[in-house]
Amino acid sequence: MGVTGGIAAYKAAEICRRLVDAGAIVSPVMTTAARRFLGEATLSALASEPVRTKLWGSAEPIPHTLLGQRADLVVVAPATARILGVYAAGISSDLLSATLLATRAPVLMCPAMHTEMWENPAVADNVATLTRRGVRFVGPGVGRLAGGDLGAGRMAEPDEIVRAAARLLGASSCLEGLSAVVTAGGTREPIDPVRYVGNRSSGRQGYAIAAELAARGAAVRLITTVASTLEAPRGVDTVEVETALEMLAAVEAELGLGVGSAPGGTDLLVMTAAVADFRPARPAGEKMKKAQGIPALELVANPDILARVGAAFKRGGPGGSPTGPVLVGFAAETVRPGGPALVDLARGKLEAKGADLIVANDVSLPSVGFGHATNAVVIVDRAGRVAEVPLSSKEAVAAAVVDAAQALLAERGRLCGRPDRDFPRDFAPPRKKDN
Ligand code: PMT
Repeated sequence: MGVTGGIAAYKAAEICRRLVDAGAIVSPVMTTAARRFLGEATLSALASEPVRTKLWGSAEPIPHTLLGQRADLVVVAPATARILGVYAAGISSDLLSATLLATRAPVLMCPAMHTEMWENPAVADNVATLTRRGVRFVGPGVGRLAGGDLGAGRMAEPDEIVRAAARLLGASSCLEGLSAVVTAGGTREPIDPVRYVGNRSSGRQGYAIAAELAARGAAVRLITTVASTLEAPRGVDTVEVETALEMLAAVEAELGLGVGSAPGGTDLLVMTAAVADFRPARPAGEKMKKAQGIPALELVANPDILARVGAAFKRGGPGGSPTGPVLVGFAAETVRPGGPALVDLARGKLEAKGADLIVANDVSLPSVGFGHATNAVVIVDRAGRVAEVPLSSKEAVAAAVVDAAQALLAERGRLCGRPDRDFPRDFAPPRKKDN
């Protein structure tokens, strides 16, 4: 367990105690800055081993390789912007950063910093780099920060961190043998060879879901419109597409629904992509010239990929049988005051698309949805269960989405006798219907 220098270091004592109570052997490593916030003696008293702080001068000749090689999991709580940057850059400047480079164990980062720092593009890039390399993140959430400020950057609560650690220790292969298809990015519908109708999707949420599924052992095929801007997560195969029609063909081919395609063995489809509902009816073969005047753009409807797949596997209506893959759709909504609540909009989309789960985000809220490093969602399923994920990193949202999908896979006996997964914490039991 690494502890770096932020005010949230005081919570490291509680995390350490809970990990030990859960049966883990905890070897704490504190940075110099961490020791300004938390006493070494406190952590040593709670942990399984005394605190280590230095690369040099200890009785162990090579402490970082000893720690790195024997760890089953490295948890860094709190993780400051500095340790994220140092680790992303591959620099070993102290015992903790050297241990991080010397381990092949899963790494769980629990960032904690001020909102401005968390949202700084350099930090966001480092988080994206580490995520791509398979590093897992829990939090940060939104709440009170050092100095009484409020905002994103508050370290996840100790119980959330301990649950994520337990999951990583027990679940790194829980989706092994299963195959998943994820779509990511916004489709681009050509107007002419240089212009297109598009949207603001960056693909980050879809990539985070693909990374989470791969980290849990699934074979993941990522159908993406942003392969040129985002690096594929480790172990994930990509299929590059541009338009909704290309995405439809790729999804159908993966699921064995296309004309002449092989029978699909896909267990899970997650449609995170922002698919354009309309496309220009007749894209021009050559670049339109200004001199030709303002063109009237005639649009035609694109096929609804998720609804087609839902219909193919007969999710909707009475008697709909849960065959085929678990279908997860997203819903990008802009909730109006006095209008329907996000959860109701999500339920409407569940029916309209014939999906098993809908993950809805209110993209009119700050830091939510398109292009941001963070998201806030509600997840609804056909049994009436609802989970809320408050504003968190897209990686944390991905973990909650995969938890919910995995629970449905388990209910359908698709986890090959492996232990069931929990629904995300706030997944409520089905509500009683009003008379
Ligand atoms: O990519 P990021 O910058 O990380 O942003 C993430 C996101 C905001 C794009 C993501 O969280 C999200 O909300 N994705 C769905 C966007 C969307 O198209 O929502 P929708 O409500 O229009 O569509 C509902 C569902 O139907 C989606 O699963 C969509 O993939 C699917 N759909 C929509 C239209 C269509 N023609 N075919 C579809 O399959």
